Amino acid sequence: MARTSSWLMRRRRDQYHRLAVQKGYRSRAAFKLLEMIRSYRFIKRGDWVIELGAAPGGWTQVLAETVGAEGHVLAVDTRPMEPLDQAQVKSLQLDLTSESAVSTLAEVCGGKVDAVISDVSPNISGAWDLDHSRQIYLARRSLEVAESLLRTDGNFLVKVFQGRELSSFLNEVRRSFRGLRIIRPRATRVSSAELYVLGLGFLE
Ligand SMILES: C[S@@+](CC[C@H](N)C(=O)[O-])C[C@H]1O[C@@H](n2cnc3c(N)ncnc32)[C@H](O)[C@@H]1O
Repeated sequence: MARTSSWLMRRRRDQYHRLAVQKGYRSRAAFKLLEMIRSYRFIKRGDWVIELGAAPGGWTQVLAETVGAEGHVLAVDTRPMEPLDQAQVKSLQLDLTSESAVSTLAEVCGGKVDAVISDVSPNISGAWDLDHSRQIYLARRSLEVAESLLRTDGNFLVKVFQGRELSSFLNEVRRSFRGLRIIRPRATRVSSAELYVLGLGFLE
């Protein structure tokens, strides 16, 4: 879809966009993940991480720095992603909603992982209820990946939009994790309904 000139003007004024360009991050969203990892320490050096909805790769860059050369990041998206040059990052073009998504990921990872994180988003229609339902559907699919592939005590982070299905989704996450946090990072746009749900300590 063509970007409008007001969208381009807003982007130029945005401090996180400018900072991302300065620091060489592919997206301003990188600052959301940096803040969440610094505050909650749910990913560390040497971790094995599955990242869902990775393109264009801002979060992937942050993950590669966080896990270091001894860790692994599997960056998954339906869209192709420009490769990163760190050897700890592998990318996989995959639709999270496909029937074989979990089994494909299990095969590629070859074992349990330390964290599953998801910034997956649908195309935004502008109709609040529809966008909310689609986002919760993708969050549920992300939870399914986490419940199938996390090691005991592993961590899960997923994006949601506020709306009527949120509390039932939160209960689903609560059942599988020792602790739950709801986070709105500072880099979130003021107009956005997005929040992140962090499940700490997978119970298996
Ligand atoms: C907000 S962007 C992610 C931005 C990323 N965190 C970054 O920092 O660069 C959301 C991504 O979710 C991906 N996505 C949407 N539906 C998906 C699906 N069913 N399976 C996999 N990826 C999907 C989109 O292609 C898009 O790249």
